[in-house]
Amino acid sequence: MVDLSVDLGFLKLKNPVLAASGTFGYGLEFKPFYDLELLGGFVVKGLYFNPREGNLPPRLIETPSGLINSIGLQGIGVEAFCREILPELAELDTAVIVNVCGEDEDEYARVAEYLSRFKGIAALELNISCPNVREGGRCPAQSSDATFRTVKKVKEVTPLPLITKLSPNVTDIVSIAIAAEEAGSEAISLVNTFLAMAVDIETRKPKLGNVIGGLSGPAIKPIALRMVFQVARAVKIPVIGIGGIFTAEDALEFMMVGASAIEVGTANFVDPDACLRIIQGMEKWAENHGIKNISEIIGSLKI
Ligand SMILES: Cc1cc2nc3c(=O)[nH]c(=O)nc-3n(C[C@H](O)[C@H](O)[C@H](O)COP(=O)(O)O)c2cc1C
Repeated sequence: MVDLSVDLGFLKLKNPVLAASGTFGYGLEFKPFYDLELLGGFVVKGLYFNPREGNLPPRLIETPSGLINSIGLQGIGVEAFCREILPELAELDTAVIVNVCGEDEDEYARVAEYLSRFKGIAALELNISCPNVREGGRCPAQSSDATFRTVKKVKEVTPLPLITKLSPNVTDIVSIAIAAEEAGSEAISLVNTFLAMAVDIETRKPKLGNVIGGLSGPAIKPIALRMVFQVARAVKIPVIGIGGIFTAEDALEFMMVGASAIEVGTANFVDPDACLRIIQGMEKWAENHGIKNISEIIGSLKI
């Protein structure tokens, strides 16, 4: 028997596999496919305070090795989530993580404070890739200062652990990770999607209604892996690896470069059982390699 549990310090997960925000609905949508309690946990779709319509269609484009999306953070808003969804999620014996959005620092804090009044949330994942209306659309993830300010402001209003989710669309990901750590974030998750676009050459129009979207899936895995490696070496808090994880082998690569847990995103669209397949594959790999506790492989990369 392999012990698949990992301890993030502020949160013990029964296994290192989490479903990523925006690819797993509010969790309940995946109930028909499998028992959600088999997961290490899941991150629900990003929530602003109020409901949002999202961007104009088309909002999803397939590429040879991934997906470009411009959903625009459509959502039901935090009040409806807490009223209609959270009571059922709170009954589950798995980590329920809420992805928090904001148009400015005040909204991030307002959403986090509101969520903190309810039971059943294991941690908040701060989606600092949201366009900031007061900063001409620049998202906090693009600067160390804005990242620091946003994390600090949220820390002041919530006792819930914070996982700050970084954008890969920056020149120096390490400095942003350090800013989040210094502001008191309990963990870092990375990466969000890579800015991308596609053109219909017959109409000469962008394929996405929003023109620009975010690329995810297998295409981004090697770049995400490099970023997780760099960040894990630079911070002391746990790192959660995300980006193109489709197989147990992908997940193991992220853990070897230093991720304490991983999130599975686009793979859930291709195969709703992806997370389960990855958990089983990791267990089998550990068994075959005589590993008793999966956390032994975290940061075990040999250079
Ligand atoms: C359709 C779609 C919606 C997403 N929505 C969110 C979101 O609401 N909040 C967030 O932080 N990330 C969101 N993401 C990013 C994913 O959580 C993940 O970071 C990214 O897709 C990279 O992982 P992957 O290659 O495994 O998909 C979304 C991704 C996709 C494809």
